[in-house]
Amino acid sequence: MKCADDFRLRFGKQELVPIVIGGMGVDISTADLALEAARLGGVGHISDAMLPTVTDRRYDTDFVKEKLQQYKSNLDNSNKSAVKFDLGQVAEATRLHVEHTMRNKRGAGMIFINCMEKLTMNAPRETLAVRLRGALDAGIDGITLAAGLHLGSFALMEDHPRFRDAKLGIIVSSLRALQLFLRKNARTSRLPDFVVVEGPLAGGHLGFGMDWAQYDLRTIVNEIRDYLLAEKLDIPLIPAGGIFTGSDAVSFLEQGAAAVQVATRFTVARECGLPKDVMQEYFKAGEGDIVVNTISPTGYPMRMLKNTPAIGSGIRPGCESYGYLLDASGNCSYIDAYNREIAACPDAKNISVMDKTCLCTHMRNFKCWTCGHTTYRLKDTTRRLADGSYQVLNAEHIFHDYQFSTDNKIALPD
Ligand SMILES: Cc1cc2nc3c(=O)[nH]c(=O)nc-3n(C[C@H](O)[C@H](O)[C@H](O)COP(=O)(O)O)c2cc1C
Repeated sequence: MKCADDFRLRFGKQELVPIVIGGMGVDISTADLALEAARLGGVGHISDAMLPTVTDRRYDTDFVKEKLQQYKSNLDNSNKSAVKFDLGQVAEATRLHVEHTMRNKRGAGMIFINCMEKLTMNAPRETLAVRLRGALDAGIDGITLAAGLHLGSFALMEDHPRFRDAKLGIIVSSLRALQLFLRKNARTSRLPDFVVVEGPLAGGHLGFGMDWAQYDLRTIVNEIRDYLLAEKLDIPLIPAGGIFTGSDAVSFLEQGAAAVQVATRFTVARECGLPKDVMQEYFKAGEGDIVVNTISPTGYPMRMLKNTPAIGSGIRPGCESYGYLLDASGNCSYIDAYNREIAACPDAKNISVMDKTCLCTHMRNFKCWTCGHTTYRLKDTTRRLADGSYQVLNAEHIFHDYQFSTDNKIALPD
């Protein structure tokens, strides 16, 4: 019986263990987690979501304080169009995080950065260009373009000296999205080095509507594989979403996948960025506690625990400090929802906003418990301790379980 270790992910001459730990913002897929994946011979992701905020916490910068200072007078203004990022600071935050991570890299694996187009930051093109180019400057092995169609993203890096040597790939949830990406980026004469095909069971935002349950990862992967074969395009395919055991991984690898991308099982790893008490919430969740809703202002459905504190929270929009979801005109659907509730209850001390959430603030504070569909199975991957809590795992243990297990078995920790 085969295990995932019988296969290899190939980038040119380089061979890797075919296990990719997916990007999880905001700093849920930490540098430590990505470094473990690379040390063990696979691919790890850091995330570029809200990096100025992350570097404040990790590397002692003051980017959020300085931004808030600059825009303090705008706090009570519902028009946020003036609230802009300092591109120099965005570049510096990217440099700090990527350089720090790459400096500590050991082993034969690779480290990629997950870069979400939906973080429009009140200047979509300019901020995306700075983030992509900053990551290349700082020596990242590769970039995974996420949360968006990225029709112009290759062009933003085209004249960068590393454009042809760094590994560049995209996450898609349909053949149509991939075809659009290939067509629009064809001018740069560069194919993606890999394509992650993310199905409807993934964590974070979904590339599907609220009818997500009608889609199936394997069907989409096979459709894209057949298309690439017919077009004679040799691009490694990496399925993601709901791959919970080594045997799940093998079933995709045997059908032609180059690797698998996984995330949910690593949300309860010691190296993951979630606070330990939040990990316990993930362990405790039953299947009925996991919901897909539309409270994210990005417009994409998002999966999360139903007791997530972000649901219903009516906090003041945090755009002067954060503002990562402000569109090109400085709008965010949470601001509208918040103002509507304030107008409806002008004398209320606390308001509740049910239809949208202030995703920047809540992701920053680990109060939006986004998770994959299989989160309810996490309790089966560990032991229950005498105090009733669940034992947090090591990333190495989980990685090796994906790499070596057979027969749908899951190895419990010592
Ligand atoms: C907590 C969490 C946060 C995530 N955040 C992101 C993200 O910021 N960007 C992204 O492209 N995908 C994100 N994802 C999706 C993962 O990278 C991955 O593709 C997917 O969850 C794999 O499926 P699995 O979780 O069932 O293993 C997230 C997933 C989880 C569980």
